Amino acid sequence: MSAQLLDGNALSVIIRNGLAERAALLAARGVTPCLAVILVGVDPASNVYVRNKVNACEKAGMRSLKDVYPADVDPAVVFGRIAELNADPGVHGILVQLPLPKQFDSEMVLEAISPEKDIDGFHAENVGALMQGRPRFIPCTPYGVMEMLKSRHVSLKGAEAVIVGRSNIVGKPMAMLLLAAGCTVTICHSQTRDLGFHTRRADILVAAVGRPKMITGAMIKSGATVIDVGINRLPDGKLCGDVDFESAREVAGIITPVPGGVGPMTITMLLANTIEAAERI
Ligand code: GUN
Repeated sequence: MSAQLLDGNALSVIIRNGLAERAALLAARGVTPCLAVILVGVDPASNVYVRNKVNACEKAGMRSLKDVYPADVDPAVVFGRIAELNADPGVHGILVQLPLPKQFDSEMVLEAISPEKDIDGFHAENVGALMQGRPRFIPCTPYGVMEMLKSRHVSLKGAEAVIVGRSNIVGKPMAMLLLAAGCTVTICHSQTRDLGFHTRRADILVAAVGRPKMITGAMIKSGATVIDVGINRLPDGKLCGDVDFESAREVAGIITPVPGGVGPMTITMLLANTIEAAERI
């Protein structure tokens, strides 16, 4: 059996068309949705992600601001800029690209962003709201995964969902969303004793660990929906996910590719959150 492919680029086109219409409606009211992105340092992957986010904004008829600081910048400078952006009524969303250099307390930075402009959904107030089942902003990657599952009508009520990875950006919010949708959720991580035991029980398997090809076909239940959040660069320069695509596609029912799966959906949902922030004004 060969799994059906869940193409994040194709789904993104559909969703982004709808977002462009919403941006046009806002423009008619004199509001141009605006995302401000702060990048500190020269991490090549972060650089690419930020460039993609800014380009996607412009294509969707939105405005973007980009502030780039050297890796050794005084955190006070970044806090000052966040305060300015918080106070600017023309800015609807603020994103500080993670990870930040060592001199930063990332939590303090995320808490400095106004919760109403926290389109990443990383502010403690927004994390709490998500946990309580009344999200203000849903973190973009898990939000994109939920849209992908919805697009294929994947049955969630009572399903066994297993998430590999417990990050604040993906694993934990993903668990909250799947739980709210009626799944029985297991979160696995680096200390999990028998990973395969858990993954083989999964109707829905989400891999978000950042380890190339660590989930193999032998770890997947026949017919499962496999969502690969990983984006890893191999020594030959090629991108691959956390799932060994070639062996996994023989077992899974539905699978996302890397690249072209969850990655574009993350950016799409960032645009959605920014438009939503602008619509709330
Ligand atoms: N670094 C990796 N993913 C993300 C994300 O979704 N948001 C931010 N701000 N930084 C990231």
